[in-house]
Amino acid sequence: MQRRNFLAASAGALVAPRAIQAANGSVTVLLNEQIGTISPLVHGHFVEHLGGVVYDGIWVGEGSKIPNIAGIRKSLVDALRKIQAPLFRWPGGCFADSYDWRDGIGPREKRPKRVNFWERSGALAKMEGGKAKYDPNEFGTNEFMRFCQEAGGKPYIAANLRSGTARDFNDWVDYCNAPSGATTLGTQRGTAPFNVEFWGIGNESWGCGGDFTPEEYSVEFRRFTSWVPRFNVPLKFIPAGPNGPDLNWSRGFFQALVRKSPGLLNRVWGWALHYYCGTAGGPVEFSNDEYYELLTRAVRMEDLITSHWTVMGEYDREHRVKFAIDEWGAWHRAGSEVAPHHLFGQIGTMRDALIAALTLDIFHRHADKVAMANVAQLINCIHSLFIAHEDKFLVTPNYHVFDMYKDHHNGKAVRSVFAAPRRGKLGVFDGSVSVQGNKLVLTCAHTELSGPLPVEITLTGGTARSASALVLAADSPKAHNTFDRPENVKPRALKVEVSGDKLRLEMPPASVARVSVELG
Ligand code: AHR
Repeated sequence: MQRRNFLAASAGALVAPRAIQAANGSVTVLLNEQIGTISPLVHGHFVEHLGGVVYDGIWVGEGSKIPNIAGIRKSLVDALRKIQAPLFRWPGGCFADSYDWRDGIGPREKRPKRVNFWERSGALAKMEGGKAKYDPNEFGTNEFMRFCQEAGGKPYIAANLRSGTARDFNDWVDYCNAPSGATTLGTQRGTAPFNVEFWGIGNESWGCGGDFTPEEYSVEFRRFTSWVPRFNVPLKFIPAGPNGPDLNWSRGFFQALVRKSPGLLNRVWGWALHYYCGTAGGPVEFSNDEYYELLTRAVRMEDLITSHWTVMGEYDREHRVKFAIDEWGAWHRAGSEVAPHHLFGQIGTMRDALIAALTLDIFHRHADKVAMANVAQLINCIHSLFIAHEDKFLVTPNYHVFDMYKDHHNGKAVRSVFAAPRRGKLGVFDGSVSVQGNKLVLTCAHTELSGPLPVEITLTGGTARSASALVLAADSPKAHNTFDRPENVKPRALKVEVSGDKLRLEMPPASVARVSVELG
């Protein structure tokens, strides 16, 4: 509620002017000015037991006619491998703070059915039953780990701080990481250790995760992270960070932690800022003004990163703690979901793809600050890369952005100056650049609807030997994929001219591009 009120209140102030002069865009790439390494983890994902994310989305069951790998939807695994998905956060979200991990282990037929955290939300409130309302626990820790292994990403587990105990948390670490045969729980696991490094300590502890004050939460974080069994796994703890612009949460948490002992900063690996830019209009139907309004709200992410970073630096002068922005995305209102139980399910349009591109480019430009980020949520939910129902499956335009942007993984982000007019706080043209050896990757978004944008790229400190480009564009920002037209929106090749230190291309209206350059 707090977040919704904030978004509604700020919406009016963000409506942008109507007309922007057609102009050229230019980028100057400063090849010798490195920002930091782009961790693949900033392209991470989020999986919650919510609506159709796990049941129907990921888990179809071993006996299903839908092609599956040990019960996991195969088409999803294949598509995730293609984009080199690096990381999956699970089991929530708000659900995490009501989850008892013991419910999801052992023989599946013996696992208890539990009421899901979200049972009273949206259409679920009126439903009699179903797995979104009463969780059968068919998908538990071992199934999640199998999913990560098949899809090729690392696991990131959110522990239950609101209704669980520090003991439960320690036991879950033991179950996941103890060497086989070393402990009773490690033996119960029945497989090789999972070696889970990333552990979230509660979720949104200012809200659904317990309604704590930052000072109270700081105490809980200390208690939960004291003397956790290590089993030689480098555990990385991620405390629940702020709700969007709430600087008091960042200040209160770090102040209380450092007041107890500055050395406690070593316990914090990432600071879990959450930011949903909300919606404007409907998921698929919106006006041009609503299109610009939502993009403008999405790029507030950059201000959130810099403002919280400043506060964090007051207590962590060496900036040991980076961001783990483990929930972000555009959260539209209900109405476009493909099945009633897909709570928060929404069709992803080209507008959402632009939001994904603008956001990932912000993370790359702040590669020195952002160590991890997880788009919410993977499938059948908010800002998803996939929609699936029973045997039907599609990739959304967002998916293509993650696919095009994967070449940044492990690249050195370099400074770049994107020059073009602005529509209020929204750049008409913005992006990021990274370099690995003699390969340069530039990704960018052109946000104007009115016409194409000729772009000139100038390399400072190097020349281009050759280049190729891909573009994601459609005839409307509302364009999206459907089960009947799954390839309605997909990338195509874009012409790029190369001459010494200059490259030229033209971006269609409302488009996302990737330029791959071989440096001379
Ligand atoms: O992603 C949906 C919900 O949004 C998550 O469960 C919660 O953490 C956030 O409020």
